[in-house]
Amino acid sequence: MKKLTVMLLVAASAICAQAGSAPEQWNVAARKAFAAERFGIFLHWGLYSNYAQGEWYLQTHKLDEDAYARMMYGFCPSKFDAREWVRVFKNAGAKYVTITARHHEGFSLWPTKVDDGYNIANTPFKRDILGELAAASKEAGLQLNFYYSLLDWHRKDYPAGFVTSNVKVRDRKPDYASYKKFMMGQITELIDNYHPGYIWFDGEWDHHFRDDKGELGRTLDWGLDEIFDLIHSKHVLVANNSHQASRPKEDIQAFERDLPGENSAGYSESITVKTDRPLEQCDVLQNGIWGYRIGEGSFRTSEEVVAMVARAASKNANLLMNIGPDGSGQLPEQAVAVMDKVGDWFAKNGDSIYGTVPGGVADGKDIVSTRKGGTLYLHFLNPEKKFLTFKPQGKVASVRNLATGNPVAFEVAADGALTVTIERAADDGFDVVIEVK
Ligand code: GLC
Repeated sequence: MKKLTVMLLVAASAICAQAGSAPEQWNVAARKAFAAERFGIFLHWGLYSNYAQGEWYLQTHKLDEDAYARMMYGFCPSKFDAREWVRVFKNAGAKYVTITARHHEGFSLWPTKVDDGYNIANTPFKRDILGELAAASKEAGLQLNFYYSLLDWHRKDYPAGFVTSNVKVRDRKPDYASYKKFMMGQITELIDNYHPGYIWFDGEWDHHFRDDKGELGRTLDWGLDEIFDLIHSKHVLVANNSHQASRPKEDIQAFERDLPGENSAGYSESITVKTDRPLEQCDVLQNGIWGYRIGEGSFRTSEEVVAMVARAASKNANLLMNIGPDGSGQLPEQAVAVMDKVGDWFAKNGDSIYGTVPGGVADGKDIVSTRKGGTLYLHFLNPEKKFLTFKPQGKVASVRNLATGNPVAFEVAADGALTVTIERAADDGFDVVIEVK
């Protein structure tokens, strides 16, 4: 009997090893630590910030790439102060920051040695932006991560896909082997020099298409497993905003402008939410745009951001909220003002978000819940909703308003159902969090 168990175990582990599905210990720990962070800041910053028309300007305006690229000689964000940025993010309650090391335009924010010179070292600014951000983040205890574009609107060796073909790159010489070597060189630099927690890929969809039967096809074999293996060998996590089902080697499931499972922006149609991985919803603070765009004033309010954080946490997801710094190196004033208020909320209610798992009660819209150990947190997100009835796990010892510490009225019915009723004070804010112990 014993022998049989051992044999079965050996067989099972062989299968796991074969499928590459048994995550290593560092990986399990890193995924767990990432999920506990729950709130991060996304930064879209590059030459496009100087054009102030959003990060897709080159592609949507069908510009001549050579002409666009000359902005490199005018990129001099004299107001860039990594410590000041980090102060704002940390104060907002964020636990990590993810910056576009290289977005679709192909310009690199660090002095990379493996490209043709399209990087920060050749601007009048010269300073290593990622290096400064890495140092400031480390000092403040914030985890730095990198967004990295798989597609490229600058390089001649990148085999242009459906989106990229539109960009006027002169004398293209598609050579994926050469392009992949370049990417792997850059990724190695990024990890060895700046120690990110994860690399977040975007743009695989440049080569996606649907055949007549609606089946997904790819016009390029990206060889992503090899790239992911390189990253994993350095104990860094992988996320991939592919808008498709995750591959086994992707550690974090990325949802673009979507609360996992809702497909709100139309990108997650074919994504099944994985229960065995951390999830991350990335979203915009300024309406519809990631990179800085001048004159488009509509920013989300702090209340909206807080509600998004709570809803994401209630679905086991982190929220990665984007800010597009301008070409001078400053964060838009409106973004700073919103983040300040979000920080005030976190200072009082952070326990209900960091390190929590879904609470499993409430409707997911007006009231959502999170849980940490034996403590349940109820977020009342709709000012019209003042009470909730549900069956708690175990015996209720206390119910209080998390921010004020004031007791909250509750009743337990004969069948064990608990009803909590909140009273809203004028300064309670929008999301009233109730702690049920
Ligand atoms: C999209 C866009 C890109 C943005 C990203 C963030 O894929 O192409 O500009 O960086 O979403 O999720």
